[in-house]
Amino acid sequence: MTQSNIPVGLYKLSQSERLDAITGYANLNQNDIQALNRGLTMEQADSMIENVIGRYTLPLGLGTNFLINGQEFVVPMVVEEPSIVAAVSYAAKLISAGGGFKTSSSEPLMIGQVQLLDLTDLVEATAKINAAEAELLAVANQFHPTIQKLGGGAKGIECRFLPDTPAGPMLIVHLLYDCRDAMGANAVNTAVEAIAPLLEQITSGRVNLRILSNLTDRRTARAEGLVPVDQLARPGVNGEHVAQAIFEAWAFAAADPYRAATHNKGIMNGIDAVALATGNDWRALEAGAHAYAARNGCYTSLTDWSVITLDDGNYLKGVLDMPLSVGTVGGATKAHPTARVSMKILGNPHARTLAEIMAAAGLAQNLAALRALATEGIQTGHMRLHARQVALAAGASADQVQRIADILVSENNIREERAKALIEQGFQNKTKL
Ligand code: MEV
Repeated sequence: MTQSNIPVGLYKLSQSERLDAITGYANLNQNDIQALNRGLTMEQADSMIENVIGRYTLPLGLGTNFLINGQEFVVPMVVEEPSIVAAVSYAAKLISAGGGFKTSSSEPLMIGQVQLLDLTDLVEATAKINAAEAELLAVANQFHPTIQKLGGGAKGIECRFLPDTPAGPMLIVHLLYDCRDAMGANAVNTAVEAIAPLLEQITSGRVNLRILSNLTDRRTARAEGLVPVDQLARPGVNGEHVAQAIFEAWAFAAADPYRAATHNKGIMNGIDAVALATGNDWRALEAGAHAYAARNGCYTSLTDWSVITLDDGNYLKGVLDMPLSVGTVGGATKAHPTARVSMKILGNPHARTLAEIMAAAGLAQNLAALRALATEGIQTGHMRLHARQVALAAGASADQVQRIADILVSENNIREERAKALIEQGFQNKTKL
C-alpha cells in the first residue's frame, strides 16, 4: 500500500471531510468505511465472547504529527476521554520540531512460567533442567510451525528460585519464546503446558501453574524525543522556564509512587487507546507497564525527562522504555473489522513497529500532560472538551455542539441542564445555535 498526502489540520475539518482525507491517505475501501461506521456485526460480536446481547461503541480518533524514525504516521486511537487525541497530537508536533521520535524495540521474547513444587533440592533440579534444555525446547517447538518458520519459537530456559513463599520453596522455570508478530499468549501457553510433564519427569517435582507472564521485560519498546525549549514558550512564560517546570513535574513522579501512578496513567492513556484501536489486549499492557514501573522495588515513572544542551541550543529530552507485548496477527487484530482498518491506517506494521508507535504515543501523551500540568493546569483544556460532551449528552446536534460548549465554558457553568436550556432556547427563538 502506498501512503501519501499525510492529512494535516484534521481537527479543522468536518467529520466527513476527515473521513475523505483518511480514505485517500490510507486507500480505504467501502468495506473499511463501513467498518469504521458500524464496527462489529452482531454475529461477529457473538463469536467473540459469551452471552452477547449487544455491541458497545467508542470513538475512534486520529493522533497526528507523528514523525517516527523519519516516517510520518497517523495514529488511530480509541478512547472515551476528551482531550487525549488533541493533546497527543500537539505533543507529537512539539517532538517533530526536535526531529521526531527515535524508536527501537527488543526481539519479541515472551516469558512462559512453570511452577515446580515438592523439590528437595532447587539447585540440583536447576542443573537437571539446564542439562535438558535442548530437549525441552524441542518439545515446546512441536506447535505453531508458522512462528518457527518466521524465525520465532522457544529460544531458552531460565530457572528462578523462590525459596521462601507462603507455600514453601518453589522453582520457577521460564521458557523464553519469540512470538514474532503474534502477541503470543496462545503459543506461549501451549508451549509451557507441553513442557510441564517433561519438567516433572526430569526433576521428580510437581507442576502447578503453566502460564505466560505479563511482565514482558524481554519484549520492550523505547521511544525518545527532543523538544527545542523555545517551542515550549507560552504567553508571558519563556520556554526555558516551562522546560524546567516539566522536568520538576517528572522528578515528582520519579520520587513519589502516588504521583507516579497518575503520571503513568497518562502514558497509558496513549498506549491503551492505540491498543484498543488495533485490537490488542490493553489489560496485558497495563499489567506489564505497572509491574515494570515497580521492578526496582519502588513504583516510579516509566519515563525520564531532562533538559540538555546540544550545539544548537537547549532541548527537553524524553525517553520511554517499557514492556509492550502487542501483536499484529491473530486475535481481535484480525477478527475485529475496525481494528483491521486501524492497522491499514498505520500501514500494516509488524508487531515491533506497532509497539514502537505505541511507545511514541505514550511519550507524547506524557509530555502533553506534564506541559499542561506544569503551566495552565489540566482543567482548562479538559473543561473545554468536557463541555462538548455535556452538550452532546444534552441532545445538541452536530452543528450546535461547539456553540453550546463555548457558552457553557464562558458562563463557567458546564452542566447538562444549562445545555438543555440553551438547546430549548435556541429552538424557541428559532435561532440557530
Ligand atoms: C488524565 O487522564 C491523565 C493525567 O492525570 C496524567 C498526569 O497527571 O500526568 C493528566
